[in-house]
Amino acid sequence: MLGEKQLPTQEVLPANDLMISGIRDSVFIADLNGKIVFANDQACKVHGYTKGEFKGLNVIDIVPPERVKEVMPHINKVKAQGYSIHNSIHRCKNGEIKISEISLRLIEMDNHEYILALFKDISEFQTKIQTYVAAQEKEREWVSIEIHDRIVQNLSGILHQINALTLCKKPFNKDKRDKLDELSGQLNNTIIEARSIMRELYPSTLARYGLIRLIQEESIHLQDEMHCEIKFNHSLTKAVPPYLETTIYRIVHEALLNAKKYSQASQIVVDLNRTDKNISLDICDNGIGFCLKNVDWIRPSGLQSMRQRAEIVSGTFCIRSGVKGTCIHVLLPIINHIMPTLSL
Ligand SMILES: Nc1ncnc2c1ncn2[C@@H]1O[C@H](COP(=O)(O)OP(=O)(O)OP(=O)(O)O)[C@@H](O)[C@H]1O
Ligand SMILES: [Mg+2]
Repeated sequence: MLGEKQLPTQEVLPANDLMISGIRDSVFIADLNGKIVFANDQACKVHGYTKGEFKGLNVIDIVPPERVKEVMPHINKVKAQGYSIHNSIHRCKNGEIKISEISLRLIEMDNHEYILALFKDISEFQTKIQTYVAAQEKEREWVSIEIHDRIVQNLSGILHQINALTLCKKPFNKDKRDKLDELSGQLNNTIIEARSIMRELYPSTLARYGLIRLIQEESIHLQDEMHCEIKFNHSLTKAVPPYLETTIYRIVHEALLNAKKYSQASQIVVDLNRTDKNISLDICDNGIGFCLKNVDWIRPSGLQSMRQRAEIVSGTFCIRSGVKGTCIHVLLPIINHIMPTLSL
């Protein structure tokens, strides 16, 4: 949904000031170094700059500092293939952050190549998706609680009674005692399974003790299972906004699970840091790596879901993998005005 999209053709378009001045989306024309040479009325209205002010700016001036390094790769992509479509955030003159779907296209004017950029404001749409995801998480929490209250508690009661029977003074013959022991073992395993499903659905540690404790617990648990060293470093002087906690946890969880299943790593490092504007998350293992070219980004999968979760909150997801291991880098902007009251 939020990934690259294909445009049918690659023809070079002529720019027409009259045509694009009045349309509802923000339109810019920039040269191949990013210098803005044209902005339409809507761009001025949304970003708070006059047309004259825009002409002294480069596109990096309307991008938050931490996203500046993404600008040249997009320009290069347009130069190479004629177009590019991606979601990004940008900064208005008053500091306000907007989320846009940005369509870039190579055009020709006076025998020079320029980039025509169409910014479609999707802030409202993104808020709706985030609200939907939050509702989904609430639903998972509810199912987890129901499994506990209606199933796990009953099973535990039955297990308790079976165990009491095996301790009964009245002698059972060996066959019956063995059968009871077998039943007790099976029931115990079913309860362990159900608790694990509950944890997957909704990690109660997140609600009770917060994200840091949950990642610490998960790291210790996995360290024992994998016989591999897991380091979790974080420098959070301020709390993670609640609406990002579940996103971060689910990405860490899937990345660690993948490392456990495939990496054969002897060390995994999880780094979580926060500035006023961003949260950055890195999960790196020193395992065998894999070939990213073989990943099918269309098929719903763990990698796909990590990327989508990051993009739903207007963040970026990058993965590198090779013989030295796999590294995932996630950058999540903290956009206070988007969901001031929403907490998962
Ligand atoms: N840390 C890693 N080390 C080595 N290979 C990895 C790592 N992470 C992912 N992979 C490779 O990438 C593939 C895709 O991972 P992805 O998480 O999308 O799918 P999956 O784990 O096979 O299934 P699921 O959809 O249940 O997560 C894996 O099958 C594996 O080959
Ligand atoms: Mg996976």
